[in-house]
Formats: sequence, C-alpha cells, structure tokens
Amino acid sequence: MIRTPLIHAAHPAIRASCVRSCGSLLLRGACGYSRHLSTTPLLRHADVSPLTANNTHHEATEIHKQELPGSSSPETSQLTKHDAVSTVPDMVRGDWVLFHPVYSPSELKAVEVLRRERKTLGDKMAYGVVKLSRTLFDFVSGYKHVAKPPAPGMTIEELRKAGYLLSEKQWLERILFLESIAGVPGMVAATLRHLTSLRLMRRDSGWIHTCLEEAENERMHLMTFMTLRKPSMFFRLMVLAAQGVFYNIFFIAYMLSPKLCHRFVGHLEEEAVVTYTRCIADLEAGRIPEWSDLPAPEISMDYWRLSPDAKLKDVLYAVRSDETTHRFVNHSLANLNPSTDVNPFALREPDMHVKGTKIEFDRAESEQYVRESHKIMMRERGQN
Ligand SMILES: [Fe+2]
Ligand SMILES: [Fe+2]
Repeated sequence: MIRTPLIHAAHPAIRASCVRSCGSLLLRGACGYSRHLSTTPLLRHADVSPLTANNTHHEATEIHKQELPGSSSPETSQLTKHDAVSTVPDMVRGDWVLFHPVYSPSELKAVEVLRRERKTLGDKMAYGVVKLSRTLFDFVSGYKHVAKPPAPGMTIEELRKAGYLLSEKQWLERILFLESIAGVPGMVAATLRHLTSLRLMRRDSGWIHTCLEEAENERMHLMTFMTLRKPSMFFRLMVLAAQGVFYNIFFIAYMLSPKLCHRFVGHLEEEAVVTYTRCIADLEAGRIPEWSDLPAPEISMDYWRLSPDAKLKDVLYAVRSDETTHRFVNHSLANLNPSTDVNPFALREPDMHVKGTKIEFDRAESEQYVRESHKIMMRERGQN
C-alpha cells in the first residue's frame, strides 16, 4: 500500500481522495473518521486491555451528496443505467466505495503463499471444509494443477485439452464463480453483527465496517472480471444455486460460531491466494497468451488507482493482494473474542510486507497493535 503521512481530517480536499489512496500508516480517521477519535474509549481506558474496551470502535458515516441532473426521460435517466456500478453521474468523479488499500509495486510482490497451522479441532474442521470444497470444485471443473507439464514438449492446446492448463475462458469462469461466493461471508458477518448491535443496544467494536469492506472488495473483483466475460444462463443459475445454499449455511454457522467462520474464511482466502498466484504464474510464463497484452478494465484502473497503461496482469496482482488482506484479517479476527474484543483493524491495517508474509496476528499482537494505534491517535491529536 502507498505509505501516506498522517493527515488530519480538517483537510477536506485531501480527505476526498484518501478513502482509496490512504495506506498502512494512515489512520482511517484521516478519511473522515477522526471525529470518533476524540470520544473513543481507547483514550479513557488506557489501563485496561485495549482489545476488550467494550465500546471502542469507529462507525464512520461518509455522506456523498451528488446532485443528480434534473428531470429526464426513463431512457436517459442515470437511474436506469443497467451497467452502472454507481448512480453518480458520469461527469462527476468521486469516491463511491468503502475504504480499501492501493498498493505500491513492492507490496504487490511481497505476497507469499502461506498456510496456517491447524491447532484446534475447530481449525481442522474449518480447513477440512475448505479443502473438500476445493477438491470437489477442481474435480467438477476438470482442473488438475501441475507445476510442470506431465510430458515435455506439450503445446498449450494439448495441455488445455488434457486439463493441465486452464484456457482464459476457464480461468474467468473459475474466478467469476469463486468471487460470487467470496462476497457472501463479509456481508453475512456484517449483517449479523449489525443486528446484534441493534438487538442488544450496544456498540459493535469496529467489526462491521471491516466485514463490509471485505464484502464490497470481493464484489468489486466480480465486477472487474465481469467486464471480460458475459456469463451464460447456465452459469448464472449455478451462481444462484450456490449463493442460495452458501448464504444460508454461512448465516446459521456464523450465529453458532463466528470464530469458526472467520477461520473458515481465512483458509478459503489461503486458497484464493494460491489460485491467483497460479494464474499470475501461468500468465507470466506465456501460458495464457490471450491475456498477455490485455489492458486492465477501466473499472479496475479507477478502483486500484492503476496507471493508464496498466494490463490485466496488474489487476491480478492487486486482486491477489486483496485476498492476502482477507487471509490475514480473518485469521486474526478468528483469534479474538467476537463478543468482547475490539477489531484491531478498524482504524488502520498493516501493509502488505506484513500481511503478505505473516498469516495472522495472535491475540497479544492484536492487543499491541491497538495500543500502537492509540499512541498514533494521541500523537495526532497533540499535533493539531
Ligand atoms: Fe476476491
Ligand atoms: Fe477474498
């Protein structure tokens, strides 16, 4: 992520753009959240564990008011644009997404394929479900990954026919299907935590926003790759069926054990990092020639702040970094008490040099991270 110096929220011009450009060292307070800093119980409960300061969190509300054009016919109305990703009129540029990082070149390359060691029965169960799902999905889609071609001299066509290589269409189908599922857990978790907050009339400790950010981030992956392939009716029905089943199972599972669910998502994201790493390796080895010079879709250039000459490869690197964030955040959240602990990533997140090389924060590390955030906030307040 781009390292940006701490900026006080009193600079609205900077704030407007930093929702997407702020990085590891930038408190989200700089993105308009800082009014919460003066009231956060972190400041009042320095003598107790920052993780269990029950009311500590931020719940930012970012209001984007855009004037829509005056009356217009249904044909020309901005509201009836079926391909719109935002209802903001085309001529107005602005932020319409939640916080997410923009990566520096070195961060994009810092990602490592990591596996978390399974320690408890719950860990093993969560990993087992992910492993089984992946094996079934590979079998159904006829994909057998091999590090090297099984016989020397096989052409790309022959490798694809034998199921050792995915064609660009198969890669897209795989990615689109998986991203349509990946957007579910964050929304379910956010929904349930939101309802809990309403029902128990107590604050959420910063988890809802991180879950929502993850859900939106996954949806943006889907929107990006959607621009490259028009899904068939059969494919859409598959997604519909999978979503119907998965949403409900995950909903019930999250009510029973949020920890187990975050662990499950952590392992799922390990697989996502593997998938995108293999895709990038194939692309860089010239095994997906259709994509070797393909420009990045416009939506992705806007979302990840890519350069105008960015290629699809750059998008894949950015998406892999996002999946790495999900891996790190979910495994770390699974190490906390979801009822009492503060989300350590509510205000800032480590950069990809940490998230890409470390699978999680244990509870003590999360606690330390919250303390550091507290210190940064205090310093920031002292300077302004
Ligand atoms: Fe994704
Ligand atoms: Fe993900």
